Amino acid sequence: MDSGLSATARAHPNIALIKYWGNRDDALRLPANASIAFNLSGLETTTSVAFDPRLPADSIEIDGVAAQGPAAERVRRHLDRIRALSGQGARARVASRSDFPAGTGLASSASAFAALTVAACAASGLSLPEEHLSRIARLGSGSAARSIPDGYVALETGARDEQAFAHSLAPSTHWDLVDCIALVSREPKSVGSSEGHRLAATSPLQPARVKDAPRRFEECRRAILEKDMLGLAEVVEQDCLLMHSVMMTSHPPLLYWLPATLNILHQVRHWRAQGLAVAFTIDAGPNVHCLCEAASLEQVVSRLADIPEVNQVLVCHPAPGATRVP
Ligand code: PMV
Repeated sequence: MDSGLSATARAHPNIALIKYWGNRDDALRLPANASIAFNLSGLETTTSVAFDPRLPADSIEIDGVAAQGPAAERVRRHLDRIRALSGQGARARVASRSDFPAGTGLASSASAFAALTVAACAASGLSLPEEHLSRIARLGSGSAARSIPDGYVALETGARDEQAFAHSLAPSTHWDLVDCIALVSREPKSVGSSEGHRLAATSPLQPARVKDAPRRFEECRRAILEKDMLGLAEVVEQDCLLMHSVMMTSHPPLLYWLPATLNILHQVRHWRAQGLAVAFTIDAGPNVHCLCEAASLEQVVSRLADIPEVNQVLVCHPAPGATRVP
């Protein structure tokens, strides 16, 4: 049971429909462009934080294992931010568990930093509005800002910390869009997204991608609000390919795709041409997120499962934002 100096929170990862890639300020993680995502049901991270004046140092456990090195340091720095805000001086015991199938290479930093932010703020006695929790989560991981609000979410960019927070565009119940995640690899990614964001500026294509981002953002927002699946498909795929073009042309280049990734892109386009409304998007890894409406779910999953290189298909519906667990 949570009491006094302890609290538990739960958060989902999110899939970006309009991608965030590159920061205007790396230290503050101020995104180069605004992004849109939805939270993913069925995948979640639960984190407990207990501040304890008797602890000599923060003790951090992730999925049952004591965290060390850069992963532990990143959590410690996040706790320091919350200690500075709240005046809570004690060290903390943190236990975090994600229920994603092991080794799927799915980004867990969004749900991890969203759950950590909500739990640590509550445990330190801070009662903050959603907007502020989102800003704090962003400092841990940019996409974590989007796991704070409910459902379909936009992360604004801004020249200052106070301007860059996520807010809900529509609740998770607005539209039953489904993310069918085709897993083609279980390898951890070779270059993480923090390093990737730093490389974005080395691609000559990044300025063009960023310049056109407000148009794509607006088109995606409209397609979500009007539940326009084909309009959404076009802008989501273009946005994903723009991000991967920047990745592939940065210095050094980042090539996250495997042959199976490209095979699925061709299949998805072929199925759409045949009349099945489905679209792809890909994060910083080789797995392909296939988006469709709930009515097409069975067809999309069975077609994906028939592709020999697809190891598993995960099905995620829009989910609520981060919450405290009683
Ligand atoms: O939050 P980060 O630093 O892991 O960056 C997320 C980057 C992408 O997943 C590739 C795109 C996005 O907008 O989620």
